[in-house]
Amino acid sequence: MKLGCCFYPEHWPEDMWAGDARRMADMGLSLVRIGEFAWSRLEPEPGQYDWDWLDRAIVTLGDAGLQVILGTPTATPPKWLVDQMPDMVAVDADGKPRKFGSRRHYCFSHRGYREECRRIVNAMAKRYGDNPAVTAWQTDNEYGCHETTVSYSDAAAEAFRVWLAQKYSNVDALNKAWGNVFWSMEYRDFSEIEPPNLTVTEPNPSHVLDYRRFASDEVRSFNQLQVDILREHAPGRDIIHNFMGFVTDFDHHDVGADIDIASWDSYPLGFLEQYWFGVEEKNAYARQGHPDIAAFHHDLYRGCCKDGRWAVMEQQPGPVNWARWNPIPLPGMVKLWTLEAAAHGAEFCSYFRWRQAPFAQEQMHAGLYRPDNVIAPGGEEAAQAAKDLAALGLSDHSDQAPVALVFSYEADWLFQTQPQGHDFRYIELAFEMYSALRQLGLNVDIVSPEADLSGYKMVVVPSLPILTAELVAKIAGLDVPVLFGPRSGSKTADLQIPPELPPGPLQDVLPVKIARVASMRPDMPGNPSRWSEEVEASLGGDAMLEDPQATVFKRNNISYLSAWPTADLLETVFRNMGEDADLTLKAMPPGLRIRQHEGHIFAFNYGSLDCDLQQAFPALQEDQMLVGSVNLQAAGTAVWKV
Ligand code: GAL
Repeated sequence: MKLGCCFYPEHWPEDMWAGDARRMADMGLSLVRIGEFAWSRLEPEPGQYDWDWLDRAIVTLGDAGLQVILGTPTATPPKWLVDQMPDMVAVDADGKPRKFGSRRHYCFSHRGYREECRRIVNAMAKRYGDNPAVTAWQTDNEYGCHETTVSYSDAAAEAFRVWLAQKYSNVDALNKAWGNVFWSMEYRDFSEIEPPNLTVTEPNPSHVLDYRRFASDEVRSFNQLQVDILREHAPGRDIIHNFMGFVTDFDHHDVGADIDIASWDSYPLGFLEQYWFGVEEKNAYARQGHPDIAAFHHDLYRGCCKDGRWAVMEQQPGPVNWARWNPIPLPGMVKLWTLEAAAHGAEFCSYFRWRQAPFAQEQMHAGLYRPDNVIAPGGEEAAQAAKDLAALGLSDHSDQAPVALVFSYEADWLFQTQPQGHDFRYIELAFEMYSALRQLGLNVDIVSPEADLSGYKMVVVPSLPILTAELVAKIAGLDVPVLFGPRSGSKTADLQIPPELPPGPLQDVLPVKIARVASMRPDMPGNPSRWSEEVEASLGGDAMLEDPQATVFKRNNISYLSAWPTADLLETVFRNMGEDADLTLKAMPPGLRIRQHEGHIFAFNYGSLDCDLQQAFPALQEDQMLVGSVNLQAAGTAVWKV
């Protein structure tokens, strides 16, 4: 795995560049990403390009032996461009245009803006496409970040109508699919249809789900426009996009299919603080990040591109600026996160950013260097990680894991559209199942519902509301233990209740029928499950696992979980499945996670206390340790050969 950093030559006097480049190389970095926000410097006036500074920056970095990942600057259209076409900005659900003054202020559907993107990307690709120092390209920056996937602009409305006409051919088919007879919502023509915002009460959920699908397709075609140009003018260069953590607003499997490397931006402390985790977990892992956040995304994005190519484009190097609270990582965490990326088979891990900026929005965000150009603790740890990686000498290949967890972006949109219980969060359910598998010491691949599942020894489907008979047959035919989570098979593709009731076609292999469902407030006495289902079962003697809150129904290799599970229930279910599948299971002490990779075991101590690895690996001896020691300190990493 290579190491790199994100660098902004336009932020610093030119006489610093050569020294920066030399110190990057000395630190053990071999990649540098530049350019992704530099539009106002590349084209200060409409049509007047200024490439000279970027030419010199690329030469300076290349001369130091660094490979450049060049970003297209389309996440930050300059002021003159927004003034030229004020309707290019995205419009939020309240109908308010999103203003200039930060970034990502464009609507994916604006055809005029797409033309401007075509122009600037074309100009850049022609100039640097065959530059030997530029070995890869990043398209835009973090599609969807700052809630920018779904826009309610006029441009989006117009594109949505075209999308609908293509999907339904005639408006009667749409009326039927959406059930528009309800509340007199029938349309006479596609031209009458608006985006589903600003309605008096809840809009039609089928309308909303189609809008989410449309918005996702818009991201894909926006990206494809750039990919086509780069393929033409930058042959042989990898095309990469940097995805975000816990952002599910567009289908990353779709965008991943069009690029070469799915990279993501890893900020474990910020993500722990900003997302659904409880106070206890936030406190326990405030300075480490939840032990499964980074790993979950590594495994998710490894499943997004062909050949499993993935990387970390931005790695948190110290405190960030954008979460509600921004602690300093425990000493050791920057190195731990780096080696964890290697343990999951990343091609590279690049830190954000080289030097902390003393100005503008991110002046409180750490870099590998401080603003006074003194190395920061994160920089010291990056140098240490580079040495460890060089000594380990691993390739970036990742073997197929024994367990597949099936992840669907569409499922996430569907449950956001119709949660039925305030806290029915698909991503959280998927994360909890992933975490429970990892607590048993298992390697996990997170894959799309379309993925080839052959070769897996166990399959976990946290929930798949839209199930086809073909998909059920494909999964059931695997003949390995499979678990379907609650609400699987609960909707048709049009977001209607299936005629045979949930779990729809799953009933072909497991005769259960969901008669009613209940969602409950989390603070109700007696700790009810946030989601539970009344099941009519006619299994006739097949195994069942009863828990006070949920029942697991099982026939042959297929199980169905009829509630939001507790951690204990998940442990039991996965242990049973793992034993049926002959997997080696190891209960992890709190905060410890392992991953097997290329004949090595990596252990990561996310706990705040030392951890004796012999608890889980009784035969392990100190002289086997390639990195770390048997008594693994808090925030420590250990590696040994299997
Ligand atoms: C990322 C983004 C970077 C920077 C970073 C700060 O989401 O891609 O440009 O803003 O966050 O943590």
